[in-house]
Amino acid sequence: MAYFADTKVFQLNPQSPDAQIIARAAAILREGGLVAFPTETVYGLGANATDAAAVDRIFSAKGRPASDPIIVHLYDVAQLEQVARDVPPLAYDLARRFWPGPLTLVLQRGAAIPPNVSAGMATVAVRMPNHPIPLALLRAADLPVAAPSANRFARPSATTAAHVLDDLRGHVDVVLDGGAAVIGLESTILDLTKEMPEVLRPGGITLERLRALIPGVRLVTRHLQPDDAGIEAPGMLLKHYSPHAELLLFAGSAEAVRVCMQAAARERLSAGQRVGVLAADEDAPDFAATAAVVFQLGARADLPQIGTNLFSGLRELDRQGVDVILVSAVEPVGLGAAIYDRLLRAAEGRVIECKS
Ligand code: TXA
Ligand code: MG
Repeated sequence: MAYFADTKVFQLNPQSPDAQIIARAAAILREGGLVAFPTETVYGLGANATDAAAVDRIFSAKGRPASDPIIVHLYDVAQLEQVARDVPPLAYDLARRFWPGPLTLVLQRGAAIPPNVSAGMATVAVRMPNHPIPLALLRAADLPVAAPSANRFARPSATTAAHVLDDLRGHVDVVLDGGAAVIGLESTILDLTKEMPEVLRPGGITLERLRALIPGVRLVTRHLQPDDAGIEAPGMLLKHYSPHAELLLFAGSAEAVRVCMQAAARERLSAGQRVGVLAADEDAPDFAATAAVVFQLGARADLPQIGTNLFSGLRELDRQGVDVILVSAVEPVGLGAAIYDRLLRAAEGRVIECKS
């Protein structure tokens, strides 16, 4: 199989993917190639997780540092015994409850998984995506598949096939286009190798839902700088999901944020900058009379909708060539924790506190 040069794109019905196309893509995975596919969270860039050379191709295609470990995707819980060892009963309980779905479990790495998948660590992250296309693909290939989000390193994750092609055309053999990702935010990562399980990345399965099964579970997001010593959980860099534009994140009461964001928009516009705003539907009219480019995320209270649209909003404003993007923070509760985390990283950790 010729790796890359020309990226083939196949449109698939996400409910009943064409078996011949799935078989072709599965053959490419088995031969060590790269296949990008939709999941319910974001698009993934997949390779055979048991083939170290194929996994290396993921790192080069993304421009991803070797210190950032990759999640292994399964189509059957029985594969857990192949990719992990000493799997605790809690992992099976969680799998029964949340798989297929946006929950990634960190376990002890099994011998079938080469070290580069996990950036040399003794652990491995695994999940079963809730989407017919990767489930059919993995089953046809009969492989565990290593797949990070299908974007260039540190860029916003890809939630459509067009985003994948913008970042990776010529660096992936096949893109399976199954339409836009429904959740739009990456999976929740739960580390089960600690004495008390820890959420390393908030995502589609909320902390509140996990607490029903694991009362003591804690959210331990790390917002590391690239040069921080002793990176315990690699891949938790603060600067991540970054648009090309500068991102300004505003927090405070709704009224204070409104005043503060409008002032910032006016200031940047009069300085000659192109200004973009990611706005809840209710807040969009605040900027209608200005020259700012507004991308509406959805109703303020509709966190699932805001999550779905967040990365495509960042990419769309970038595409329109804005210099700066203004966005209001959300309360970090429920799905809001995942949205807040992505916004904070896109803002490189800076929050503008607005006082009324
Ligand atoms: O929803 C998702 O999780 C998507 C889709 C494609 O499944 N994948 C995804 O992968 O977001 P990626 O590579 O963008 O993020 C994976 C992150 C790493 O950056 C790291 O923080 C964490 O998962 N991770 C992976 N393996 C780990 C391990 N063994 N221990 C701790 N963290 C790990
Ligand atoms: Mg990613």
